[in-house]
Amino acid sequence: MSRVAIVTGGTRGIGAAISIALKDAGYKVAASYAGNDEKANAFKAETSIGVHKWDVADYQACVDGIAAIEAELGPVDVLVNNAGITRDAMFHKMTPENWKEVIDTNLTGLFNMTHPIWPGMRERGFGRVINISSINGQKGQMGQANYSASKAGDLGLTKTLAQEGAAKGITVNAICPGYIGTEMVRAVPEKVLNERIIPQIPVGRLGEPEEIARCVVFLASDDAGFITGSTLSANGGQFFV
Ligand code: CAA
Repeated sequence: MSRVAIVTGGTRGIGAAISIALKDAGYKVAASYAGNDEKANAFKAETSIGVHKWDVADYQACVDGIAAIEAELGPVDVLVNNAGITRDAMFHKMTPENWKEVIDTNLTGLFNMTHPIWPGMRERGFGRVINISSINGQKGQMGQANYSASKAGDLGLTKTLAQEGAAKGITVNAICPGYIGTEMVRAVPEKVLNERIIPQIPVGRLGEPEEIARCVVFLASDDAGFITGSTLSANGGQFFV
């Protein structure tokens, strides 16, 4: 029987690559997305992966969205918490809204998605939760007080849930991508990207979404059953923990 996977923010960027890689590895995959219907529909047409629209910052929307997917595909075995946003600004210019939106999506979104799925994983004695954090949650980043705080919070949640889930067959791990060639990174001013960021990456290039997707496929597999609470850094050598 194929295992069932949900990938949040799974229709674009790193999430799209994860959805496709899990499908190719034999999983039944559902991809959630927040707003971009056009991209989501194009993704569905190209991949035949089901797409589901809701905001991970809304707890009840997560409960309802997960229930709809489980009714269609069966209980969720693998949850990839990938959905994330940036609202970059230097701290002195950051608004309370910038702060709240990012925390609500990137940190509370993980609670909202994992909490409804967790009891079923405990009952069935199996689960894989993979949280997409960030290099900037590990090292901090100027212009990203909100994002770095949210992504560091994801690492704390990962380590706690790993302890709580271990005896129930649930592994919980984080991946910390560095700068990957997605729309989110391309939104950084070109001058900053070329003069400040890429020179800091020893391999000399941005990462590819597929390079993160392969990490997810491994952590989701039975082969990774002894790995839990870990943080897998995939950043081209930009930062060593
Ligand atoms: N690394 C190094 N230096 C940076 C930097 C970065 N990531 N971001 C900004 N700076 C520097 C700028 O080069 C500039 O330096 P100079 O004055 O010496 O030229 C200084 O900080 C101020 O920057 P700006 O002039 O751009 O200031 P601003 O107020 O107009 O804009 C900003 C600030 C919105 C933060 C803008 O600089 C920016 O978007 N920076 C990129 C921030 C960033 O790295 N975001 C990551 C997005 S990708 C992501 O989040 C995915 C992931 O997980 C890795």
